[in-house]
Amino acid sequence: MTQSLTLRRPDDWHLHLRDGAMLEGILPETTRHFARAIVMPNLVPPVVTARQAADYRDRILRAMPEGATFTPLMTLYLTEDTDPEDVMAAAGSGLAAAVKLYPAGATTNSNSGVRDFDKVRPVLEAMADIGLPLCVHGEVTDPTVDIFDREAVFIDRVLDRIRRKTPGLRVVMEHVTTQEGVAYVRSADEGLAATITTHHLILNRNHILVGGIKPHYYCLPVAKRELHRLALREAATSGDARFFLGTDSAPHIDALKEHACGCAGCFTATNTMSILAEVFEDMGRLDRLEGFTSLNGAAFYGMAPNEATITLRKGDPVTYPAKILTGAGPVTVFDPGMPLHWHVEP
Ligand code: NCD
Ligand code: ZN
Repeated sequence: MTQSLTLRRPDDWHLHLRDGAMLEGILPETTRHFARAIVMPNLVPPVVTARQAADYRDRILRAMPEGATFTPLMTLYLTEDTDPEDVMAAAGSGLAAAVKLYPAGATTNSNSGVRDFDKVRPVLEAMADIGLPLCVHGEVTDPTVDIFDREAVFIDRVLDRIRRKTPGLRVVMEHVTTQEGVAYVRSADEGLAATITTHHLILNRNHILVGGIKPHYYCLPVAKRELHRLALREAATSGDARFFLGTDSAPHIDALKEHACGCAGCFTATNTMSILAEVFEDMGRLDRLEGFTSLNGAAFYGMAPNEATITLRKGDPVTYPAKILTGAGPVTVFDPGMPLHWHVEP
């Protein structure tokens, strides 16, 4: 039985680092294991322009713990007023690794997102020309569509249309949560990939709702039925390079999670690698963990994989702090609800 596993250092292709005291408190949780991360731009106000992305990157770099070797990969928040020239400049200088599309109102801090997808076509065309990926929050916001159907409906109504109208556009369907999402990615010839989160490999909707409401399991897109979780586990461990890790680790202070109108987001940065090792071992596919965490995403983004490595070792269950205490308040670490036997060597 495998007891030790050395991988190229992983990357996180979808991460929320926030700002200020929260950023300072949670950044070490990512830099401990990860080499790079695609940093989401949904701050208040959002990171829309190249200038704002450069300033945000500076704030992240200033918050880095001693000795950390971590590269934040910046994204621009797409609005109907985004200037294609500004996007081109941000991509050309190496500042922006992707552009993020939030349908307006779909999730946390998405009010400045896109309502009319035709309005952003010039930006999308410019991105297709230079191969800059579009990261998509794939949920419709139509109030008549059931929250559990919003991803599948988005594929039919929005995503497929965007891809047809802008051939060559490289798209990442982020935090895919359904078998429809997995099937759509598999059906595409090229230029389409998906990130899968750690928590969606663990949770189905019963975990959120049965036996009392569990606010720390509430995230967007919301976890679906068990058959979807199984489809995600299969896709993540399949070896198909179109699927890779994007934790969507999204910290909110406990006071805002344990609330009458609780915020969406699971905070998984701390224990993601232990959880993933457990999942991949359970699926009999530990040999494919490195592809999912350290190779496939880099290949899609046209970047070299990391040279440095991390080693996971199996042993007695490892414990992680229940909460990370930040200057903004405590943040509860995602509880996978099972013992974790793989720990990352310091
Ligand atoms: C994210 C957040 O809190 O910023 N929340 C979440 O549930 N995933 C936003 C997002 O990625 O949808
Ligand atoms: Zn997210």
